[in-house]
Amino acid sequence: MILNVIPRINKVDYTGGESYIDLAAVKYTADDSYGDEAYGIVINAEGVEVISKGEKGKFYAMKTLEQIKNMGKVPHCVIKDAPEFPYRGFMIDSSRHMQSVDEIKKYIEAAARYKFNIFHWHICDDQGWRMESEKYPLLNEKGSWRDCHGFGSPNMEKYGGYYTKDEIRDIVNFCEERFIEVVPEIDMPGHVTAIVSSYPELSCRGVQIPLETTGGIFKNILCAGKEEVFDFCFGILDEVAELFPCKYIHIGGDEAPKARWCNCEKCQQRIKDEHLNSVEELQGYFANRIIAYLKSKGKEVLAWNESLNSGILDGDCIICDWMDRAHKSEAYANQGGKIIIEDFYHYYLDYPYGMTPLKKTYTYEPYLKKLDSKGRKGVLGVETPIWTEYIEDFGKMCYMCFPRMIAVGERGWVTPENANYADFKIRLRNDIPYLKEIGITPADEREWDPPLKVRIDRTLGHLKKALSPASIKATLFPNREDD
Ligand code: ACM
Ligand code: ZN
Repeated sequence: MILNVIPRINKVDYTGGESYIDLAAVKYTADDSYGDEAYGIVINAEGVEVISKGEKGKFYAMKTLEQIKNMGKVPHCVIKDAPEFPYRGFMIDSSRHMQSVDEIKKYIEAAARYKFNIFHWHICDDQGWRMESEKYPLLNEKGSWRDCHGFGSPNMEKYGGYYTKDEIRDIVNFCEERFIEVVPEIDMPGHVTAIVSSYPELSCRGVQIPLETTGGIFKNILCAGKEEVFDFCFGILDEVAELFPCKYIHIGGDEAPKARWCNCEKCQQRIKDEHLNSVEELQGYFANRIIAYLKSKGKEVLAWNESLNSGILDGDCIICDWMDRAHKSEAYANQGGKIIIEDFYHYYLDYPYGMTPLKKTYTYEPYLKKLDSKGRKGVLGVETPIWTEYIEDFGKMCYMCFPRMIAVGERGWVTPENANYADFKIRLRNDIPYLKEIGITPADEREWDPPLKVRIDRTLGHLKKALSPASIKATLFPNREDD
């Protein structure tokens, strides 16, 4: 017997008999011995009882009951459930393409059903700045608008916009009601074309450049030698911290080519003054100053795994492991650091099902092989991003994310022994009507695990579209300054 619930319940004991259940008549008992996210449910002939420490556990119990109720008559049972990981995140890139507030809320509604507790919001990048700023108005006047739709679209009209502070507060509140925290990401020192096109003096060369209209890695990064860059970062992070109550702030740190830093007098002077050995260490210096500032404001900091390349990163920084061939994140966790697993090959939902089938996502083991017993404790959780270079509308986003994000949600909740793909698929089929009811159309089941030939075709088709000559060059020769 299985209970039709996603994520799968970690412990169920069946006690015999079955009943219809009435969610309006659930009895509640508070019990301090439960963890914050844990809950118990007893279903018997007398009705339903929920047990938890407080509101969060109760919320998860109700999410479980909403799904169980759809089974009709429910088997009498005793449930004890708690998540494997405290961090269960989904990321939305609203820079490359924006989503409406209503669309984001639909995504959040679904995420809450599957007991995600983190919405990582990627609100700035080379192709657009998306948060209203009162302190730095040019971020909205210039940095939120690119010359054309870009990414190969024939639409040559201006593209852009930003979320007002009221809209952001509305989304944060909507999340709070569902026990989801919103982690804003201000990516730095790379992926900052929206910033340096608004305030060119913040780059090494101070040259006015337009927003990017293609995907890739771009070299006009923030100058690490200028004090006004740190003033700007602290200033914008003050504004971000005011708007987002979450204890975490993400500071990016990925894909920052060092060509400009190698040739900038001020950056080179900074390296001398701070007794650093390389431009990589300069990135570590940059990150550590930002981290120290955010720590002084009571925040914990997340950064992508490239931030480890400096070798001098503050050990309190939480590392988001997305592409880490040198296994630095695992070494970091083995030494006591915290990491979040967002593996490119398994959890990146912007890649086609041909490249990343549902089964591949589901069966991925978040406890990476090179973790020792201490390192396993450093895995805070999992997160699944949707990057939107080629996701222009919400319909495509739903197709790409659902059901793969649900698989990540389940792996964030269940113990490794309770993960079971065949069983997951049965429960998933049963929940498709719910998704459609809230306005999310998932990929059809025939798409989830395509046959090999289709996989190869789709993978090649996607790579042909996504890999621009500029991004290949920047990846292979990050330190070459040829313009
Ligand atoms: C990333 O995908 N550049 C984090
Ligand atoms: Zn510089």
